[in-house]
Amino acid sequence: MTDKKIPRVALPADVRLDTLAVREGLPPSVWGENSEALFLTSSFRQPDAATAAARFANEEEGYIYSRFTNPTVTMFERRLAALEGMQSCIATSSGMSAILLMAFGLLKSGDHVICSRSVFGTTIVLFGREFAKFGVETTFVSQTDVDEWRRAVRPNTRLLFAESPTNPLTEVCDIRALAAIAKQAGAWLAVDNCFCSPALQRPAEFGADLIIHSGTKYLDGQGRVIAGAICASEALVNEKFVPVMRSAGMSLSPFNAWVVLKGLETLSIRMEAQSARALKLAHWLEAQPQVERVYYPGLKSHPQHELAMAQQTSCGGAVLSFIVKGQAGGGAAQARKNAFHVIDSTQVCSITANLGDTKTTITHPASTSHGRLTEEQRLAAGITQGMIRVAVGLDDVEDLKADLQRGLDTL
Ligand SMILES: Cc1ncc(COP(=O)(O)O)c(C=O)c1O
Repeated sequence: MTDKKIPRVALPADVRLDTLAVREGLPPSVWGENSEALFLTSSFRQPDAATAAARFANEEEGYIYSRFTNPTVTMFERRLAALEGMQSCIATSSGMSAILLMAFGLLKSGDHVICSRSVFGTTIVLFGREFAKFGVETTFVSQTDVDEWRRAVRPNTRLLFAESPTNPLTEVCDIRALAAIAKQAGAWLAVDNCFCSPALQRPAEFGADLIIHSGTKYLDGQGRVIAGAICASEALVNEKFVPVMRSAGMSLSPFNAWVVLKGLETLSIRMEAQSARALKLAHWLEAQPQVERVYYPGLKSHPQHELAMAQQTSCGGAVLSFIVKGQAGGGAAQARKNAFHVIDSTQVCSITANLGDTKTTITHPASTSHGRLTEEQRLAAGITQGMIRVAVGLDDVEDLKADLQRGLDTL
């Protein structure tokens, strides 16, 4: 690149995160708009043929074609990178395509990956089935047993992949310990930060090299669009990911970028309010006789409570799961029937697999998000038929208690 760069927003160098969340991006256009513009255009006019040539040759920064350059997308990327405390970011069409782009950019046939076996079900399928077709082998290990990660390292290990807390068990991994293992192995550590968002957790502060986002969740925050992103160093983004994006085109549309960009402006207050409601609901669920167990990092009973409080700015997040008591001897079929009964008795919660919405969502992970796993993979991930996941939104928590009480009382 030459010194012809896309300009930056003029802000004091020491502004804090809440200010960056509403102001980082690009300077306004010639019209001086205060709310960021949506550049809904496939391509950009070039002032002359020589400039077009310089831009296509990467000798000058400038907007060319929205598969790989669009100002609204840049604004989202810069803002998210700033919130994560990373140098750079590249936006993608979905959270899954962020993982796909990461793999295309970093891995080749013969490489080895270590991945937590508790990550989002589709991520397990992507690593275990799809990447395997291209000669990338993945070893799945315990989310919380650091020694198992260490033992899984091979000379060809290139990537460690974790998610914290996990979906739906809310298991928390020790990011700092995994970063140390990755560093020693000469590998990268990628952390899917979807559940916490940078408002609650900034994995780069603990040594993660790459942060994966499903922008579909808290970054949008209102369940409107599918989006994704990778945050990383400028070198990784420019050298490994931008060329793949340009050829493979898993790009974020400008409209979806605009939605998540504006979502970032309210991220921290939403996360705070939704987490406070989740904590109240988790305490209440723990006291219900029909509930066998509650999984929520903000509860003292959570096995990694201390670690979660240290990594997640003293906050449990807004997702919790619980197991409805089965009937003695009823087995998995009865547990599933009970879970379905509680879900079907709700009148406020939305029965949908998405999370991160202002509307509280409820789902049965074993038959939805993790339905494509084998029973063996599901049980290895700790997902049983009696489990229900609630992603707490901005509904009144008393209404949520009443909603769940209806089903629990009639089991
Ligand atoms: C933790 C986690 N990572 C990634 C994804 C995939 O994101 P997307 O649906 O935007 O592709 C999800 C989706 O539920 C998720 O929960």
